[in-house]
Amino acid sequence: MASVKFLLFSSTLFFVALSFSVAQPSFRPDALVLPVSKDASTLQYLTHINQRTPLVDVKVVVDLGGQFLWVDCEQGYVSSSYIPARCNSAQCLLAKASGCGECNSPPKPGCNNNTCSLLPDNTVTRTATSGELAADVVSVQSTDGSNPRRVVTVTRSLFTCGSTFLLEGLASGAKGMAGLGRARIGLPSQFSVAFSFHRKFALCLSSSTTSNGVLFFGDGPYVMLPNIDVSTSLIFTPLIVNPVSTASAYTQGDPSTEYFIGVKSIKISENAISLNTSLLWINNDGIGGTKISTVNPYTVMETTIYNAFTEAFIKEAAVMNLTRVAPTAPFGVCYSIKNIGSTRVGPAVPTIDLVLQSESVYWRIFGANSMVQVGDNALCLGFVDGGVNARTSIVIGGYQLENNLLQFDLASSRLGFSSSLLFRQTTCSNFNFTSNA
Ligand SMILES: *[C@@H]1O[C@H](CO)[C@@H](O)[C@H](O)[C@H]1NC(C)=O
Ligand SMILES: *[C@@H]1O[C@H](CO)[C@@H](O)[C@H](O)[C@H]1NC(C)=O
Ligand SMILES: *[C@@H]1O[C@H](CO)[C@@H](O)[C@H](O)[C@H]1NC(C)=O
Ligand SMILES: *[C@@H]1O[C@H](CO)[C@@H](O)[C@H](O)[C@H]1NC(C)=O
Repeated sequence: MASVKFLLFSSTLFFVALSFSVAQPSFRPDALVLPVSKDASTLQYLTHINQRTPLVDVKVVVDLGGQFLWVDCEQGYVSSSYIPARCNSAQCLLAKASGCGECNSPPKPGCNNNTCSLLPDNTVTRTATSGELAADVVSVQSTDGSNPRRVVTVTRSLFTCGSTFLLEGLASGAKGMAGLGRARIGLPSQFSVAFSFHRKFALCLSSSTTSNGVLFFGDGPYVMLPNIDVSTSLIFTPLIVNPVSTASAYTQGDPSTEYFIGVKSIKISENAISLNTSLLWINNDGIGGTKISTVNPYTVMETTIYNAFTEAFIKEAAVMNLTRVAPTAPFGVCYSIKNIGSTRVGPAVPTIDLVLQSESVYWRIFGANSMVQVGDNALCLGFVDGGVNARTSIVIGGYQLENNLLQFDLASSRLGFSSSLLFRQTTCSNFNFTSNA
């Protein structure tokens, strides 16, 4: 087992590399891999993190834009390697954790004197609380891109202690949330610093609740059966920083850790729809723009965008002779399944293009990612109305991400996306999790 201490500053990277070569002359991981499942009742995406001593398999909700890993320390947290972050320590500085906490109960994980704290955030229910910053052991399988390989360990991986009540609204059995956001203590940054690999990670969500999708930390290859490297032929677009935090509770001046992209217009069947484009920009108060989220099961659009979008879709669907039926909540537009043809990329319906930095760069959404089957007879447009006061104008949700590989490159601040893998005759549930270590 390779093992390193969590690193505080990149200037010390050299020393880590050194301690690696001493401990494990033959092995340094280039990437790590975790399975991601889809919970049938909440539509949340879940992964498992092996944490603590002795190791415990902790089920957590994947929160793409979340600030850090947080877990419930109130109930059942037992670990001989738990280390609370002392006030003004390098860990507190790195995490930008302020304050100096006291706890009036007997000391235990989540309750120690002289520790700094952060605000663990249940982004599903939008509830945050204060929680102790701490470090503990985390073990993850490395990968060569095709299979899992040996388990590697980060001996001091930073996370925040949440409370039991903060788990409300999460999938059954979940003990916290795994934040993959752009904070320095987000899991992608911590893993890349610990193993000195590329500050990149990739998410490939399965559309099935019975087979796993995959999360990679580090660069490709990302190989799906039958031997298709889906890290090739990605389309790139800049990631945008929202200067104002979008967390449920935050300190003024904190930027958002979520991933925003620059959608400039939307086309349906290649015809641009008319929108109030100022909603597509992030204003000085952090309002507007387009982000990607795994805690929203379907894409959410500000009301005027939603109305223009659905009207245009209805018009283009009429050209294709689709028959509307009464809608089923939360959807507003549904069709009879009867006269909809099928294609390799799902039901034959109007295509939806999110046009990015130029007319020639767009994210095309096909039927498999736009239409949700409701009952036996209907297919509904899987987009929902976010209201007139939506903080973010477009939130691209989980259903629209499934079977698309998304690579987040934090160093060069860009997103690589594959478009539907169904075109390439594979899916996100085709990573070969059989270990060849
Ligand atoms: C924290 O300090 C207070 C006052 O000294 C003490 O009563 C309390 O038990 C301590 N709590 C912990 C968790 O050590
Ligand atoms: C467009 O949206 C902006 C931001 O919400 C708003 O201030 C403006 O009035 C809108 N313009 C129109 C023409 O509706
Ligand atoms: C739709 O129906 C009309 C009238 O029946 C027909 O002329 C047209 O070809 C159909 N269009 C498509 C795309 O099937
Ligand atoms: C999955 O990987 C294992 C280990 O390398 C290999 O033995 C097996 O043949 C692979 N499965 C498929 C379907 O290729």
